Amino acid sequence: MREQLAALLEEKQGEYVSGEQLSRILNVSRTAVWKHIRKLEEEGYKIEASRKLGYRLVDSPDQITLTSLLPRLTTVRLGRSVKLFDEVDSTQNIAQKLAEEGAPEGTLILAERQLSGRGRMGRSWLSPKGRGVWMSMILRPTIPLPYTPQLTLLTAVALCRALRRLTGLEIGIKWPNDLLIDGRKISGILLESSAEEERLRHVIVGVGISVNLDKQHYTEDMLDRVISLKMAAGITFDRSEIIAGFLAEFEAVYTLYEQEGFAPVRSLWEALSVSLHKPCKLTTPQGIMEGIPVGLADSGALLLKLEDGDTVPVFSAEMG
Ligand code: BTN
Repeated sequence: MREQLAALLEEKQGEYVSGEQLSRILNVSRTAVWKHIRKLEEEGYKIEASRKLGYRLVDSPDQITLTSLLPRLTTVRLGRSVKLFDEVDSTQNIAQKLAEEGAPEGTLILAERQLSGRGRMGRSWLSPKGRGVWMSMILRPTIPLPYTPQLTLLTAVALCRALRRLTGLEIGIKWPNDLLIDGRKISGILLESSAEEERLRHVIVGVGISVNLDKQHYTEDMLDRVISLKMAAGITFDRSEIIAGFLAEFEAVYTLYEQEGFAPVRSLWEALSVSLHKPCKLTTPQGIMEGIPVGLADSGALLLKLEDGDTVPVFSAEMG
């Protein structure tokens, strides 16, 4: 219904359409039309309402299209096959399915909106229409299964470097892979892998970037924990440029990883980290641990220096 309403307004190219006409065409009440107009505004449409004349479309939310994206891509291996969707449950699910069907490494799935975006630790991921980059990429790395967490850190490095370069914002990595501006999260990374008999078959790299979200997209209780690039910088960003910038950076760091292993990626991660050398509390599956993170192990685990002086690797935890 909303899509139909948007299409009707778009057809009129900035001319007014009366509420009555819209309710007749859509076969709903005028109150319902008004409610859908409000929803469209929440999705980024700018609509002028006049009691006498009805509604007119002033501006539509920007859209990622192949025409906007493909000319910006500089990568050789990644993003050479791009699938764009308007609305999906989760780009991770589409990527999983395509990977099972044999889609090549670097296949990229993008959606304007996710209805059930997934986060880490079983959380949901807010993915409103036209405001962010919600994407999943298929990788087929030839690495031993236990090294998979290294790819999470690698993704954080690539994303952090790309976003710093494209936005000029002071962005840091909170272990393992959250990107923060002044302590507030701007993106999330979710890696899901599929293995068979201890062999990695494919990895789906899920990346969510809160690009052009406004305050009203978040609930009140989220606002002290999260922020969008737009809110942080005060300007709107071109999402296609961000996708292309991320892919370019990812390809460079991934190639470095393939050629030289994890060591150079670890150095890059440590240089961008905002979690090292500060006392912290970690919630692990085994309980709470306190200490000072001092670096990364070869495996990608966080090295935590405990009060008694011992340093232990932590593989999976939530950093408080
Ligand atoms: C996190 O909890 O920080 C990870 C969030 C990952 C969100 C992205 S958005 C694109 C992809 N599809 C999903 O359902 N999740 C990931």
